[in-house]
Amino acid sequence: MLMQFFSLKTRIILGEGSLSYIKSVAKKHSRVLIFSSKSMRVHGFLNEAMNYVEDAEAEVEAIIGVPAEPSYEYVESIMPKIREFQPDLIIALGGGSVIDVAKAVKVFYDAPELKFEEVAFISRFEKPKPIPKLKTPLIAIPSTSGAGSEVSAASVLKKGDIKYNLVSFEIAPEFAILDPRLPRTMPKEVARNSGLDVLVHGIEAYTTTAATPFSDAVAIKAIKLVYKWLPLSVQRDEKARENVHYAATMAGIAFLNARLGLCHSLSHKAAWIAPHGLLNAIFLPYVMEFNMRSEYARKRYAEIARELGFNTAQELVEVIKEFNEMLGVPKLSELVSEDEFLSKLDEMSEKAYHDPLINFNPVEPSAEEIKELYKRAFYGE
Ligand SMILES: [Fe+2]
Repeated sequence: MLMQFFSLKTRIILGEGSLSYIKSVAKKHSRVLIFSSKSMRVHGFLNEAMNYVEDAEAEVEAIIGVPAEPSYEYVESIMPKIREFQPDLIIALGGGSVIDVAKAVKVFYDAPELKFEEVAFISRFEKPKPIPKLKTPLIAIPSTSGAGSEVSAASVLKKGDIKYNLVSFEIAPEFAILDPRLPRTMPKEVARNSGLDVLVHGIEAYTTTAATPFSDAVAIKAIKLVYKWLPLSVQRDEKARENVHYAATMAGIAFLNARLGLCHSLSHKAAWIAPHGLLNAIFLPYVMEFNMRSEYARKRYAEIARELGFNTAQELVEVIKEFNEMLGVPKLSELVSEDEFLSKLDEMSEKAYHDPLINFNPVEPSAEEIKELYKRAFYGE
């Protein structure tokens, strides 16, 4: 028997001005905590959000400016303030890091007895303790179009130098508000890098071993939208920004269910080199060529190719390379020196080999093959 699942916990609210939905939710609550990026404050959206909460006659407090790569130490440092305020609703207004922090805060606020190391994990060879039922609802309002954190069940946090994952449907947001006014504030580079991440989410989710016809449907739609609209979105076209924003959440729904693969394992462990989406875009063609030893992966890539108006898996690889070139994606060797790259290669390869997402890749690579892939990407072979 083969039994598969597809779930979406999050209610999605979308459209121009949909930020005002905050008021409808806040009406049922009395103390609302908002995490906001500095950029959302500067562009006036934090103020607007706080006004909706006040209109709903709830008390509001804001924590502004979350570190770019948030750590558990940071979460711990803000917990006393949060426990004192005692929110009964949490709102995250910003990029993936802001949403990830809010998710982690929800865990340790609702279940203070939990120890970080018991519930967080780094390797596919260990099994963390499950996160218990949590009560404080979370509204995620993404200002960038990429990470999919507004629907996903994961939060990535550093402790020391190590990146851990918290994964549970308990931390998937109750609501995701997709107001296209917010991503229109993204600088061009952020729009490009996060949009490239969406493309990789779609392609990887479509080709994992956990893909279902349901995750396929959203993955394909996301891929088609990004392929068509990302170049215009980078040029600040308003309609394009909106379409890529929705595509990001669709791809998030796809990978929440179908998970991701080797490309993300490689980019996660190379995060010290460049932004996440950019690394994914660089690694993707190499990972696809590697995965093509699997008949399943070849068939799936060819299906994507046909959806985009091409024919074969190999053609799709070429299309991806051209897309990267058109968007000005640099070579890996332009982002890091050979000496530095080689000095960290063994460590990166070993860590990537342990990455939990390898379990869903259509081909299981050896640690040696992972190292080869990193090298090919660096030397552009
Ligand atoms: Fe990603």
